[in-house]
Amino acid sequence: MVQKILMICLGNICRSPIAEVVMVDTLEKANKKNVVVDSAAIGSWHVGNRADPRAISTLAQHDLKCTHIVRQIEKQDFAEFDFIFGMDEDNMSELRRLAPKGSKAELLMLGDFGLEAKNRIIEDPYYERGAAGFETAYQQCVVACAAFMKERLA
Ligand code: 4NP
Repeated sequence: MVQKILMICLGNICRSPIAEVVMVDTLEKANKKNVVVDSAAIGSWHVGNRADPRAISTLAQHDLKCTHIVRQIEKQDFAEFDFIFGMDEDNMSELRRLAPKGSKAELLMLGDFGLEAKNRIIEDPYYERGAAGFETAYQQCVVACAAFMKERLA
C-alpha cells in the first residue's frame, strides 16, 4: 500500500518545500518505502516558481536538494492524499475550509509531532531578513518528520 503525504504552507516557497525534502530524506534514511511526498501552496502567487533561494540554500547546507516547482492545492488533493500537513494555525483553518465533505485526507499540523508545545508552530520566515528562520524551520521539520514517521508510519 502506498501512503501519500502533502506538505502545505501559504506560498509553497519556504516552509512546505523544506518539509517535503526533509520528509523524503527521513523516509529514505529509515529505508521506508511506498510513501509519496509532495508539497503545495494555499495561495497562487508563486505557482510555477522554484522555492525561495534561502530555502534551497538552507537545504543545500544539509546536503539536500530541492527541485520543487510551486503548485496550488486542489480539491482533488483531499481525495488523493492520506495526510495533509499545515505549518501553522492559519494553514490549518484554510485547509479545514477548503476540504470537501467526507474527504479522505487527515489534516494535521506538522509541529504537533515531536515538538514542544511552545515550539509547535513552524513560523513563516519569508518576510525576515536573512536565512536564520529557514534553518529554524528546517530543524523543526527534522524533529517533526521523524516523530510522525515513528508514530504513524511504523
Ligand atoms: P511560505 O512563506 O508559506 O512558507 O512559503 C510565504 C511565501 C510567500 C508569501 C507568504 C508566505 N507571499 O505572500 O508571497
